[in-house]
Amino acid sequence: MSFRADSPYNDLPLLPPCEDVETKAVLKACIAARAALSELRVSGQLIPNQAVLINSIPLLEAQASSEIENIVTTTDRLFRFANEAGDQADPATKEALRYRTALNDGFESLKQRPVSTSTAVAVCRTIKGVELDIRATPGTALMNEATGTVVYTPPDGQALLREKLANWERYIHEAEDIDPLIRLAVMHYQFEAIHPFIDGNGRTGRVLNLLYLVDKGLLDIPVLYLSRYIIGNKRAYYDRLLAVTTDGAWQDWILYMLEAIRETADWSTARIRAIRDLLDQTAGQIRRDLPKIYSRELAEVIFVNPYCRIGDLVSAGIAKRQAASVYLKTLTERGLLQEMKAGRENLYINPTLLSLLSDRSPA
Ligand SMILES: Nc1ncnc2c1ncn2[C@@H]1O[C@H](COP(=O)(O)OP(=O)(O)OP(=O)(O)O)[C@@H](O)[C@H]1O
Ligand SMILES: [Mg+2]
Repeated sequence: MSFRADSPYNDLPLLPPCEDVETKAVLKACIAARAALSELRVSGQLIPNQAVLINSIPLLEAQASSEIENIVTTTDRLFRFANEAGDQADPATKEALRYRTALNDGFESLKQRPVSTSTAVAVCRTIKGVELDIRATPGTALMNEATGTVVYTPPDGQALLREKLANWERYIHEAEDIDPLIRLAVMHYQFEAIHPFIDGNGRTGRVLNLLYLVDKGLLDIPVLYLSRYIIGNKRAYYDRLLAVTTDGAWQDWILYMLEAIRETADWSTARIRAIRDLLDQTAGQIRRDLPKIYSRELAEVIFVNPYCRIGDLVSAGIAKRQAASVYLKTLTERGLLQEMKAGRENLYINPTLLSLLSDRSPA
């Protein structure tokens, strides 16, 4: 084995892995993860307005995934600045919002092309907010945060990196005899081991995971909160990535990813159901108590925008500015929203939805 922690691992083996990745334990875990994912997919389809979901779970994913990199922001800040007010946010919130944008743009890009090296470049550019490309200079190394020692040095040289990425791309789309979830685990390791960028590889790889699930038809929209598991099991994440390199420990790594998918699919399903129940309950309450202003769209708009502005009602075609303002004030009087001043504008907060989304504990 030619691996040395402190010198570029140019001998990183090409895919497929030479070990058998479809062990009995892996196949068993794969079935459980597939079942949990398909339940998530169905629960997503039961919310007719997909914007409700696209605006919530990906923000949680962005928050947790950025936190793995020690970019810490709160759910409240993220939702508050999720729309056009983003440029007023603090740097950490902005960076997490860029992750969300990268995920949404990547999702859109799947209509044109499958997950590829160019998807990775586009995602990383958006996350980092700079015009970067595949690494051309040496010097990138992964450290142990606590001790400062180098644990892994990725391969060097742009041509070599592109070669390894081309192999990665072929494997994820062409190894069709391997279940897509197993391929996803292999893909994530290999991408991180190639480490094509100077920074942002972890977050880019985690965005690609979600895009891949959509690409392979296992999800309709990227609403799996996968980084929730990773942030909760961060030590194992690093250890198992490294053990693939040092010991060829594929099975442990794949089992880790399959369990991550299963657990976070269950969590996401439960949250989506709770969001749906809350939305139906809120719509019912408005219809009953405030029939003059009721429309399903009005109930939905305060779920699409947990920090709602008058302009959100106007652009959703619900009412003109003056009426929209009356609607939001009426909902506030009823206790469904809370009003907050933000500069010259008013924000109307949906507190029950926010507390549902802020809670990291199991459903
Ligand atoms: N031993 C290892 N081998 C390969 N990849 C690793 C190893 N240890 C960690 N990684 C990956 O490298 C990522 C960190 O790389 P980088 O700093 O470029 O990404 P980031 O997105 O800026 O940070 P982060 O992933 O911490 O959010 C980790 O998240 C993980 O995915
Ligand atoms: Mg980093």
